[in-house]
Amino acid sequence: MSEKNVALWGGRFEGAPEEALQAFGASLPVDRRLWEQDIAGSRAHAHMLAKQGIISSEDAAAIDAGLGTIAAALEAGEFEFSLADEDIHMSIERALTKLVGDAGRRLHTARSRNDQVATDTRLYVRQQAQALARQLLDVRGTLIRLAQDNAAVIMPGYTHLQKAQPVLFAHHMLAYSWMLTRDFSRMLAARDAADSSPLGAAALAGTGHPLDRAQTAAELGFASVIPNSLDAVSDRDFLLDLIYACTVTMVHLSRLCEELILWSSDEFGFITLSDALSTGSSIMPQKKNPDFAELVRGKTGRVIGDLVGLLTVLKGLPLAYNKDLQEDKEGAFDAIDTLRLSLVAVEGMLATMTVNAEAMRAGAQGGFMAATDLADFLAARGVPFRDAHEVVGRLVLVAEKSGRTLEELTLEELRTASPVFDEEALEALKIENVVARRTSTGGTAPVRVAEQLALAVESLEADKNLLSVR
Ligand code: ARG
Repeated sequence: MSEKNVALWGGRFEGAPEEALQAFGASLPVDRRLWEQDIAGSRAHAHMLAKQGIISSEDAAAIDAGLGTIAAALEAGEFEFSLADEDIHMSIERALTKLVGDAGRRLHTARSRNDQVATDTRLYVRQQAQALARQLLDVRGTLIRLAQDNAAVIMPGYTHLQKAQPVLFAHHMLAYSWMLTRDFSRMLAARDAADSSPLGAAALAGTGHPLDRAQTAAELGFASVIPNSLDAVSDRDFLLDLIYACTVTMVHLSRLCEELILWSSDEFGFITLSDALSTGSSIMPQKKNPDFAELVRGKTGRVIGDLVGLLTVLKGLPLAYNKDLQEDKEGAFDAIDTLRLSLVAVEGMLATMTVNAEAMRAGAQGGFMAATDLADFLAARGVPFRDAHEVVGRLVLVAEKSGRTLEELTLEELRTASPVFDEEALEALKIENVVARRTSTGGTAPVRVAEQLALAVESLEADKNLLSVR
């Protein structure tokens, strides 16, 4: 057994695990990113141990200084990781002991990696959820700006991906801003779910040492102390909450990206993505592909997998810590990283795309989208809606057979279908009027969309304030 393969828990063991299995058992490649949180947690623990008289203040000072040196090495990328270390917790403890001797060996008093890893992960999630929430605000801001800058642009609204009724482009953008508003709330809820301290639970049952868990929680900025030591070391709900928040956001981004892909196609031509956020083809010189939108759509599948993966790890897991729990971080970190870059990509595409108002308007002109309005016109003059529906259906057929839009029919033709039609019916058919008529609350009429925009701005400002509280 070579020296470098002796693990910290080596005392009880006579043989070293095979090297391949050592890699299998390790989480270091995944959890090394938790080094800042691990050092903060160790410092808080050492301060508390000293204050409680469990270790001397000299030892605590030596630990503090040693951790400072280690943090600097990690920061500079000069820290030497050893194959024998299962995880970041062992790596740092080993380095500390090498630096400060026995003081380092006292740090782990009344602590287990079980409460340590839960503490580190919670600190990390709290910080990352906050950062993702901030990014969500940026994307909402961009959607709102698009709505403001294109207030009068009319586009076809769809159901079944068939043209249904004209809507304001601003209305469509704001629909996504509301989706991201809910995502923001979910993200903050995930942040707050992580905001409770497991430190001091030790391995599972607490400890006989006179700990002050409130002190370590306060030093680490946790809002509270987890009241049950078993729950403290085995709860990963905060990770489920986080991945769920990431997943729903990815699903929303994926829907938006699907529209960007469609809209940027030659067939739609509603938008033009900027060159910087498109890619060319290696064989077809004319191509400009919406790769980033497609990647966001594709990566959504992986993030959904991250959620299902952790749910499956947790299902049927007995209390308290089980090594299965080491599998909690890879998917969670993947979800965080994927969402972070997806938000950057989507924000970039939205901020730099060209809105082709003409093409949207032209698209809104066809497709007989004023048909409902024509039927409403008759209904408003006393024709039962079902009869009106039939009359307009016949008119659509007339228009379709002669290759015209409803707007291009003459008043005579309308009156042949129903004598109730008059000059005003022609007015009602105009696309601006079709849109302007939808004045119900939440509707697409410019007056309602202006109100909605004000609400969206208000909620964005409120959420900005909410975020800056911490
Ligand atoms: N590497 C472990 C993890 O990520 C740390 C906790 C290990 N605890 C234990 N009892 N083996 O979960």
